[in-house]
Amino acid sequence: MIEYRNLRIAVLGAGSVGAQVAALLLQHADELAGRVGAGLELVGIAVRDLDAPRTADIPRELLTTDARSLILGADIVIEVMGGLEPAREYLELALTSGADVITANKALLATHGPELFAIAEQVGAQLYYEAAVGGAIPIIRPLRDSLAGDRVHRILGIVNGTTNYILDRMDQGGDSLEQALAVATELGYAEADPTADIEGFDAAQKAAILASLAFHTAVPVDGVHREGITGVTREQVAAAQRSGFVVKLLAVCERLVDPETGADGVSARVHPALIPTTHPLAAVHGANNAVFVEAEAAGSLMFYGAGAGGVQTASAVLGDLVSAARRHVVGGPGVAESTHADLPILPITSVTTRYQITLSVLDRPGVLAQIASVFSEHDVSVEAVQQSVVDPAADGQDGNAPGATLVIGTHRATEAALAATVAALADSPVVARVDSVLRVEGL
Ligand code: HSE
Repeated sequence: MIEYRNLRIAVLGAGSVGAQVAALLLQHADELAGRVGAGLELVGIAVRDLDAPRTADIPRELLTTDARSLILGADIVIEVMGGLEPAREYLELALTSGADVITANKALLATHGPELFAIAEQVGAQLYYEAAVGGAIPIIRPLRDSLAGDRVHRILGIVNGTTNYILDRMDQGGDSLEQALAVATELGYAEADPTADIEGFDAAQKAAILASLAFHTAVPVDGVHREGITGVTREQVAAAQRSGFVVKLLAVCERLVDPETGADGVSARVHPALIPTTHPLAAVHGANNAVFVEAEAAGSLMFYGAGAGGVQTASAVLGDLVSAARRHVVGGPGVAESTHADLPILPITSVTTRYQITLSVLDRPGVLAQIASVFSEHDVSVEAVQQSVVDPAADGQDGNAPGATLVIGTHRATEAALAATVAALADSPVVARVDSVLRVEGL
């Protein structure tokens, strides 16, 4: 029997996620009440435009443009409006008025997370955000709770569905980046302005959230090194395929030892990378997301599924709602953000990675030796070299035209050393062109 009073739920935003949250909340009200031990009463949905089209049927009388009054009368506020303002202001109002907050807003958390968590802690309210990374995929709670007793070393994430869709089309269908982007836009994966996705901003926000949780350290979004996919070519993707790799936009979060000081630190970076086709992340196709976690005791774990989509993301929001509502009913302190480790955030130059470098070189005696000496001068160890002869008709035969292509794989070295090696190769008289430089992960 349910004896607790109804809990008052406010939703901010009725876009593709908000409309589905409201619809599911109304549709499954009895079942959710059974799980929580109290009724969940949707008291209103704040929108900018009362007449905008919705992706789900929601009673018009629940819509309001007065977000502040709605927030002040709620026990739990669900923010699915996106953007930084007024979302930040609304969440601050909700928390200071004692409501628990659920948000799917990764940009807000990556930018204002620490101040919002501080307010939540101060007033004893909770801030839940499972939907902010990986849509429907449970990854926040596993990192915050299930793995809280372990030590996470590394996370490799495919956390942007649009770019995964584009790179997958380039890999599976031989599309150019422009062709694949056009299809992604047509299907609604990419926005009219695709910058946030293809330049890696969206993935960097998610990387900041994952790294903060995994390493108990507040990692701001501007501490994440970011490179997008706009430089990735069809030729690179095809060459990767020939050598047993696939190109993915990865969010890499690592706990490392600073090579300068010998002290522990953390790093978060987003960039295109080669991963072996045998790695579980290589099997993540289309617009799906996956987060591969390497932990000391648990070993390797992979969380996989739909990284976006209104109803899928609504599933994660409603999971948070049940947790937040249960806390109202049964009490307890809830979960606090853990930033106790407070490790230094290392710059990309301190990170160690492996590179695969493709060079067009002259085909004459001594060329390989000169190239090898560039690597050794920068203390970068070569792991493998593959040479193929270029069709002379393609590049002419004037003696200084490239005669061979070299694909050079390195062992791990610091980014600083690898970047300096590439710069020196570009200046070398025996190198006609540096065709491609990609980091290699997952080996
Ligand atoms: N635009 C994102 C993606 C979804 O393509 O994965 C929202 O984070």
